Amino acid sequence: MSALVADVLVSLPVFMTPRLIAAMNMPTSPDLVWHHATVTRARREAQNGHRGAIVWFTGLSGSGKSTLAHAVEEYLHQRGCRTLVLDGDNVRHGLCEDLGFSAKDRTENIRRIGEVAKLFLDAGIIVLTGFISPYREDRRRVRGMVHRSDFIEIYCDAPIEVCETRDVKGLYRKARAGEIPEFTGISSPYQIPESPELTVHTGTETLGDCVHQVVVDLVRRGICSLPADRAFLPTIEYEA
Ligand SMILES: Nc1ncnc2c1ncn2[C@@H]1O[C@H](COP(=O)(O)OP(=O)(O)OP(=O)(O)O)[C@@H](O)[C@H]1O
Ligand SMILES: [Mg+2]
Repeated sequence: MSALVADVLVSLPVFMTPRLIAAMNMPTSPDLVWHHATVTRARREAQNGHRGAIVWFTGLSGSGKSTLAHAVEEYLHQRGCRTLVLDGDNVRHGLCEDLGFSAKDRTENIRRIGEVAKLFLDAGIIVLTGFISPYREDRRRVRGMVHRSDFIEIYCDAPIEVCETRDVKGLYRKARAGEIPEFTGISSPYQIPESPELTVHTGTETLGDCVHQVVVDLVRRGICSLPADRAFLPTIEYEA
């Protein structure tokens, strides 16, 4: 190998790094330069004692996304895991308060959630999201933002009749009365996940059983190493 080639090879990573980083992060301006943290995700995860992940609950309104996400969070938190729930309605009070429910706004809503979830993932946190996220393409885009082992899509499978009977927020009644346009499942589509990491039958099974299935799945994927035996199910009581 010539001295010149050796020189180029040695200097390549140093020379290429800013360009590679720029390309990877697709800056909107060539003047934006990614600043790398010395406290990395790996170090944060080591300190946390578990991996970070985005646990993405999707399903119809009333299918149980919020209830299940918070119950799983409660379970994990009680066992020392660092967690955060990003919940549909809460996020629309702030970060996404300017967005409505048109297909375009729903897409932007999910994009922003994905970006926020990714930040927390980088902090080594188990992020649990509860959004209807009705479009496959939107969910696929968020999945594509992170490594494939970081995104766990959980379909909260509850028939619309069950969700409508529950009508936790009274929204189905309003939608049927024509008071809410573009209501998912009634006047706006919900695209069922084709290959979610997990499906939980939140319309027929108890909350405790669903929590158990999610925790077992997280353990199986190496996100956390909690005892997943039924004997270790949460001690808190769940209302069905
Ligand atoms: N296995 C279960 N998992 C989750 N929720 C359940 C389950 N069984 C019954 N429920 C009940 O179903 C309701 C689900 O309401 P929840 O607000 O969690 O739905 P959601 O999917 O977050 O709806 P939205 O999209 O409108 O926010 C709650 O009243 C909850 O107690
Ligand atoms: Mg909810």
